[in-house]
Order: sequence, then structure tokens, then C-alpha cells
Amino acid sequence: MKVICSIEEFRRERAATPGSLGLVPTMGYLHEGHLSLVRRARAENAVSAVWIFVNATQFNEAADFAHYPRDEARDCRMLEQERVDLLFMPPPQEIYPPGFGTYVTVEGVTERLEGEFRPEHFLGVATVVTKFFNIMQPTCAYFGQKDAQQVLVIKKMVADLNIPVEVVVCPTVREPDGLAMSSRNVNLSPRQRHAALALYRALCLAQEQWARGNKDGEAIRRAMTALIQGEPLARIDYVSVAHPETLQELDRIEGGALVSLAVHIGRTRLIDNVVL
Ligand code: PAF
Repeated sequence: MKVICSIEEFRRERAATPGSLGLVPTMGYLHEGHLSLVRRARAENAVSAVWIFVNATQFNEAADFAHYPRDEARDCRMLEQERVDLLFMPPPQEIYPPGFGTYVTVEGVTERLEGEFRPEHFLGVATVVTKFFNIMQPTCAYFGQKDAQQVLVIKKMVADLNIPVEVVVCPTVREPDGLAMSSRNVNLSPRQRHAALALYRALCLAQEQWARGNKDGEAIRRAMTALIQGEPLARIDYVSVAHPETLQELDRIEGGALVSLAVHIGRTRLIDNVVL
């Protein structure tokens, strides 16, 4: 695996490496979810690449950015084992040099859910993804379904700006007890880790109700909310049963729905979702 820290060197390397490039965008502190994307990128492309960059512009709170887990040495070992070809790990000033002042705004799908609770979050995501796509010129980019709204935002951005990248969405990877894998899980104490299962239990409840023929979006939201409120360590940002493309909340589920939630467990904010 070649570890590259400058844009210039990455461009040189890419020019010398022919064939399709499968890219996995990350902020590091890798887990099995990331590795499932890496394996798919390797299997489907001539060259595999990962970026690791903890992107300050997508964090709303300085404390959240400061607490974001980091371990570059461990990440490198994991990617070596997966036989990734290129690892791009630029320092912040390479991506945001002094005087940087251009941002990418995606309208519509950014406004609800995460956009409501984390203003500017998707501005930071869309900007950094555009920059890395421009630098790395991937053929395909692999994202996890766990960040369902992020996937919608990036798909819209790629379509609207005619960026020649295929966005590939891969299933959420879960721990054996159902907790969605996330770099943030490491910040949970054992008691909080147990409490965090309320998210998965609420999503399972939505799936059960849907399977039993309940199409009342508001009733499903209420049942999920009550379940999570039964967990004293949990504080809800949102519980949503929404149209899978527009993210408009649904009173009645006709064609399908994205059921998603964001819940604080102590100081850790977790998100998860299922598609009905
Ligand atoms: O999903 C993430 O880890 C980040 O939002 C991304 C896409 C790497 C942009 O910083």
C-alpha cells in the first residue's frame, strides 16, 4: 500500500496507475463497516484507494471534532491487511489552504433530519467530497447506507454537477447484537453501549409494525419514540418515517419509507436507519 499525503503526489500516482479506481471515503478510526466498503472497492476495480481525513468543516461543534476518535497507525495496519493500493491522508492545510473560500451547497435533501440538527454539516460534507473527487478522480465511490441522508446528498450533488463518479451504496454493518458499527461507538461506556441498543430495537419495532400491515407513519414514529424514551440515557434528536428520496415525513406509507433516527447516548450522538 502506498501512503500519500500531498495532492501533487496523488495526481502523479493516479496518472501512472491505469484502470478503474474504487474509492472509499473515510474520516478514519476504521471498523468492519469501512472494511466491507474496501473489500467491495477492491473486488470491483483495478485499483483501490481510501482517503482518511477528519473534515473539520462538517462538525458543528469544536468539542465534537476534538473528541472524534483517531488512530492513524491502526488504520494503516488494517488497510495494509486488506491490501489497499493507495491511501491518501492529506494534512488539513493541503485541503483547506489559507484563503480557502469556496463551498458546495446542495439544496432540498440537506434541509431536514441531520440538516435541521447539524446546520452546515452537509455544506462541509459536499465541499470535502467534491474536493476529494476532483483530486482522486475515482470511477466508483463506496458509501455506507448507515449515513442514508449523506448518500442522498452526494447522489444529488454528483447528478447536479455532472461529476463522473458512480456512487455505490453498501449495507450497514452491525455488531452481533444489532448496534450499527460507527467510529463513535468507542466513546460509549459499557452502560451506554447497552443503552445504545434502543436505536436498533426501535428500528426493529418499525419493521415489525410495517410487516404486520401498519402503514400509519405517525403511529410508527410514536411507538419508536416511546421505546427510546424508556431508556433513561437516551435523548432523541429525531425519529423519522419519511419518503426515501424527498425525506418528507409520511403520514401514510404507500411506496416505502426511510425510517431513521438520531439519538444522544451521553455525549455520543448516534444515527441509524432501515428502509421499509
Ligand atoms: O461519512 C464520512 O465518514 C464522511 O462524512 C465523509 C464522507 C468521509 C466526508 O468527510
